[in-house]
This record gives sequence, structure tokens and C-alpha cells, in this order.
Amino acid sequence: MKGIFGEGCPYRPHRFITMYTKNSGMIKKILKLKQEKNAVILAHNYERPEIQDIADFVGDSLALSIQASQTDADVILFCGVDFMAESAAILSPDKTVLIPDTDAKCPMAAMITEQELIEMKQMHPDACVVCYVNTSAAVKAESDVCCTSANAVEVVKSLDCDEIIFVPDKNLALYAARFTEKKIIPWDGYCPTHHQILPYDIMDAKKRHPDAEVLVHPECRPEVIDLADGVYSTGGMVQHAMDSHFDEFIIGTESGMLHRLEKDVPSKRFYAVSDYTICPAMKMVTLSEVARSLENLEYVVTIPADVQKKAKHALDRMIEVKRGS
Ligand code: 13P
Ligand code: SF4
Repeated sequence: MKGIFGEGCPYRPHRFITMYTKNSGMIKKILKLKQEKNAVILAHNYERPEIQDIADFVGDSLALSIQASQTDADVILFCGVDFMAESAAILSPDKTVLIPDTDAKCPMAAMITEQELIEMKQMHPDACVVCYVNTSAAVKAESDVCCTSANAVEVVKSLDCDEIIFVPDKNLALYAARFTEKKIIPWDGYCPTHHQILPYDIMDAKKRHPDAEVLVHPECRPEVIDLADGVYSTGGMVQHAMDSHFDEFIIGTESGMLHRLEKDVPSKRFYAVSDYTICPAMKMVTLSEVARSLENLEYVVTIPADVQKKAKHALDRMIEVKRGS
């Protein structure tokens, strides 16, 4: 199909955004401000193409956390969603961490509160708590260890506990449970963007691209994961696309990923599993917001000291566990 938003259509969302937001004046301003403020710009793989293009580092949640913990810049400007900027502030409490748009909030991270986790822990007093990094700082502070989609399986395996409370993503919890004998107790959260990818979407995309390898994110439903050739974090998808003998890929994750893949692996072809796998929160940060954020040093992410200390322990443990996918 080459019609509106079909493959090959020049108005596909990521191409549309690229076409209409090129702004060399704004980019020059950002680069100048970045130098003046000794700032580093970190961007997630789902951000708008023009935001990825001006970032110093583009990556998945694990790679961005590691970058945030190691930078020698004075200011970390985070182009991503709330929990990512919070993680940077937890890991680097002496830096100024900025988020250009405070409405960029991950809906899954809001699906569990600190109080709900405390109650769950009371119901399972012998269980360890693994919390997906897509959570608030307060939930991290109540957890033993965090994980990202790149090392969820490895984090679960690393724990010396027979029962594990896994919050908030039930799909990632069920995915990790495939690789362990441990009892996984999932919270009932999910990512709206990944959860709406259905088996039909995979089968339909496979009909259109019979020679493509199907890569999906572990936030997808189990029945979608069953149809995939490979399950990867967003960073893992880039590495796999480079290494694979396949030349074409159906990508079962947020659409911003296509820009990253097309840029890093230009010799291969990538197809979105559908035209509606968009995370609105990841599309909020714009170039003009980045410029304003650097100019005015807003909006500063702050974490209460007691929460920061406990949450940092869970994040540090996460970073110690090796990337799996
Ligand atoms: P990654 O850690 O794979 O980049 O995923 C983050 C995320 O929010 C997925 O929806
Ligand atoms: Fe949250 Fe899903 Fe958006 Fe990732 S894609 S930030 S999990 S809503």
C-alpha cells in the first residue's frame, strides 16, 4: 500500500516530522547554548528525528542511564520522558538535569504508586522487588533493583530470591518469566503504545514483507512475542539489525525507532509494524523547547534526598547487571 501513511508514503509520521521541522537557525542556537552551559543532550530512540539529530547521545534506557551516570558536563538536558530524566537526576545528583517539557510523562510509569507497591510487598513479604526503570523515583526507592528491557531477564536471574514482584509492566514480567524457574508476580501495568500491537498486525505486516525478520520489543503482548523472530530492547534492535543476515525488518515498537535504524543501518530496510505505534509523550519535546530549556535552565528535575539515595541503590544495581538484548 502506498496511500496515506502506507509504506513508501512520504507522509508517514516520522518522515512528515523530519520534512517540516528542519530549522538550521534553531539548531545553531542550541549548539551555541550547549557550549555556553557545558551541557550534554541525551535523547531516547523514540524522540522526533530532529531531536535525535541534535543530541550528543541517542540510545535506549539502559545506555542513557549509563551516559547520565558518567558524564562530566554540568548540565544534562534529557529529551525523553519523565522517568528517564528522573533517573538521570538520581544517578547524577550533583548535575543540573533538565527536561524541556514537563508534560512528557510515560503513562505506564504512572500505573503504580509507591503506596501500591508497599501494599504488594506486605502481601508477599519474602519476595524481592524488581522495578522496570519506567517508574517514579518513589517506586524505585521501594525496590531492590531496577531493570530495563535490555537486562530484565539478566536482573531476574541475578537475584537470590524464589519469588519476585515485578512492576509495573505485566508484559515484560511475563517475558522475563519465560527464562526462569522463579515465581514472578506481575503488576497489572502495560505500555499503551506496545500493548495495542496485535497478532493481526504482525501477520498483516508479514504478508506485505514475507522476506523480513520480525523484531519486537518485550513490552508487547505475549501472543505478539510468540510471532516474532527476535525480542529486543530498542538498543538491541540496532545491534541485531547490524549483525543479522536479513536485509529487511518489521519493527514492532514505537515509530521513532525507524529513524534511528535507518540512520545507523542505511543499507537495510525497516518497516513499522503499523502506522499507529506512536508514543505521544515521546513526541512532545521540540527543537524550540530544547533551546528555551537551555537558555533558561528549565525545567530542573529535583528528587528529595531520601528518595534519591534509596532509588540510586536500585539503579546502581541495575547498571551492574550486563545487557542481554
Ligand atoms: P528501551 O529501554 O528499550 O529503550 O525502551 C524504553 C521504553 O520506554 C519502551 O517503551
Ligand atoms: Fe512509556 Fe510506552 Fe511511551 Fe515507552 S513507549 S515511554 S513505555 S508509554
